[in-house]
Amino acid sequence: MQDKLVTVQRYLAESQSLHPEATGAFTELLWNLILAFKIISREVNKAGLASILGLTGERNIHGEEVKKLDVYAHETIVGIMQRSSPLCGMASEEAEEVIPIPPGRPLGKYVLAFDPLDGSSNIDANASIGTIFSIHQRLSKEGPAVRADFLQPGGRQVAAGYVIYGSSTILVYSSGSGVVAFTLDQSVGEFLLSHAGIITPAQGKIYSVNEGNALTWDAGTQRYIAHLKEKDAASGRPYSLRYIGSLVSDFHRNLLYGGIFLYPASQADPAKPKPKLRLLYEVAPLALIAEQAGGRASTGAARILDLQPTELHQKVPFIVGSKVDVERYEAFFQGRER
Ligand code: AHG
Ligand code: MN
Ligand code: MN
Repeated sequence: MQDKLVTVQRYLAESQSLHPEATGAFTELLWNLILAFKIISREVNKAGLASILGLTGERNIHGEEVKKLDVYAHETIVGIMQRSSPLCGMASEEAEEVIPIPPGRPLGKYVLAFDPLDGSSNIDANASIGTIFSIHQRLSKEGPAVRADFLQPGGRQVAAGYVIYGSSTILVYSSGSGVVAFTLDQSVGEFLLSHAGIITPAQGKIYSVNEGNALTWDAGTQRYIAHLKEKDAASGRPYSLRYIGSLVSDFHRNLLYGGIFLYPASQADPAKPKPKLRLLYEVAPLALIAEQAGGRASTGAARILDLQPTELHQKVPFIVGSKVDVERYEAFFQGRER
């Protein structure tokens, strides 16, 4: 039984040994990131006790200033990653600009973009929340990272993944050779390999969308969602609607069970489509995971991983999940299917 226990450290060490040219810098980066995840998981799990749910500037029973969980998660990741990992800069949902590495520290060749706490509107309801991360190699030659280092197509990510702080804490990760997942064994403080190679079903029977936005959708999206509700036993329709409102949780369920997640742009003003999800640290990392698991990730018109970002907090429409389902959506969105 013991030899079945593969910790994430051992997994990363074995992965590194497959790359003789590796210096260990990437592995060290991930080890530090994993430490941050363990600390955030601990805080999320005791959040109810320390009454840090959704509050700012309060003091808990220990007299410590308590922070909103997403600020806490942001500061935990920045604090750990600034002190000890081969980065030259970071970008966070919680920071307008690039976060530099403090002067005097060595600068590495990687940049990290992250959503420190995804699904934060669900914290007080104790629904699952998560962290999403994306790693690129820098483009600039030396010195502190610049915005251009982050504005790279998602297809060039060195690695990406997410953590779900739910009934258990699960880390889902890909560095371009498939998708693996590790479950945190809180008693020993180790992430243990729990899914050696996730493949998402080619087609599902679940769709995940905020139906409250239906009147703002474009005609193709409206026709597609209506199509999912029509009875057609052969194609498994009608699909079931499952929507938690935490992207990591909705994505993870559909990754395992099959299905499609949609956050189309609001066309309330057709002249100015308004997407919601952020390309660099929500959409691109999950698109890498989806494709590495055999799924598909699209704006409806273009492959997510081909998009050339233009700004750090850029928002894009996000349609992701089982290949057959996303392709069908694209046919409706592009008017090839009525
Ligand atoms: P965040 O908590 O990082 O701001 O992300 C919230 C996102 C995402 O988690 C989820 O899919 C989406 O907001 C839900 O949006 P709606 O409430 O508009 O459906
Ligand atoms: Mn988010
Ligand atoms: Mn967030």
